[in-house]
Amino acid sequence: MVLLRSSAFALMLAGLVQAAAVKRQTITALSSSQISSYAPFTHFASTAYCNPSTTRNWSCGSNCQANSDFQPVASGGDGGGTQFWYVGFSPSQNTVIVAHQGTDTSEFLADLTDANFFLESLDPSLFPGVPSSVEAHNGFADEHAKTAPTILSAVQQTLSAHGASSVTVVGHSLGAALSLLDGVYLRLHLSTGVTVRVVGYGMPRVGNQDFANWVDSHLGGHVTHINNREDPIPIVPGRFLGFHHASGEVHITDSGVWENCPGQDNTSTLCIVGDVSNIFEGSTGDHGGPYAGITMGC
Ligand SMILES: *[C@@H]1O[C@H](CO)[C@@H](O)[C@H](O)[C@H]1NC(C)=O
Ligand SMILES: *[C@@H]1O[C@H](CO)[C@@H](O)[C@H](O)[C@H]1NC(C)=O
Repeated sequence: MVLLRSSAFALMLAGLVQAAAVKRQTITALSSSQISSYAPFTHFASTAYCNPSTTRNWSCGSNCQANSDFQPVASGGDGGGTQFWYVGFSPSQNTVIVAHQGTDTSEFLADLTDANFFLESLDPSLFPGVPSSVEAHNGFADEHAKTAPTILSAVQQTLSAHGASSVTVVGHSLGAALSLLDGVYLRLHLSTGVTVRVVGYGMPRVGNQDFANWVDSHLGGHVTHINNREDPIPIVPGRFLGFHHASGEVHITDSGVWENCPGQDNTSTLCIVGDVSNIFEGSTGDHGGPYAGITMGC
């Protein structure tokens, strides 16, 4: 009983300490070296738009040359029924890379505003042990399920071939949503000694409040979603439909500053939710970038 009480007290204290830490965070600009550290991942996300026959042997031209030391292991998808993807090892970043292709901007925006979708619990056979209150967009979850086991085995093979202990999942647009789901999925299936990181560009909202909280507590600090200027995709599906972003936003402002936005869906005008209050204020042309000079697409 005493033990129970003291652990409850400890939990409460930890909560207070955390709340204080959150309060102290401010919106800060990334330094130029922090911004350039994302460039290899931006190129990796862009490369996911290239045909799998060219990512399999890293012959896709300038996108591939931007990460010239990359060692591809597997690739797939047909760009229609299943988005392109690839898996391999980056010696210079010392991480396994998983990348997912995005999709056509205006079609995607229409899909995410027509509300012809719903939130559903994650499939327990793919996401064992995750509470059923954790819900994601049904279309994203279905698309993720198509490639999940194949990608997991390619990741495991690459981790052991290189004795690596880091996996970075990247993607743009729909690819960013799939990357976040892959981040959750890989976190559940890889040993705790392996760091799982997600870097998404123009990521839409993927799940509900419990999903965002699950991501924050299990992948916290390892999720970055980078939003360019007035891109409307990151503000859909709307919060009024029950969707919430996990923490980790970086917003590129009109002046080209990369602002670190603490918390989930930070409403400051320096961050995407405050800057683009509805999709009519958005500019679909901002979705593809440029993200520090890099525009998405093969
Ligand atoms: C946005 O960031 C500011 C500065 O750190 C913080 O005070 C505020 O609570 C955040 N807002 C949300 C909604 O997270
Ligand atoms: C890569 O694969 C494609 C398709 O199989 C082939 O046409 C091309 O010659 C290969 N390129 C290299 C550099 O191996």
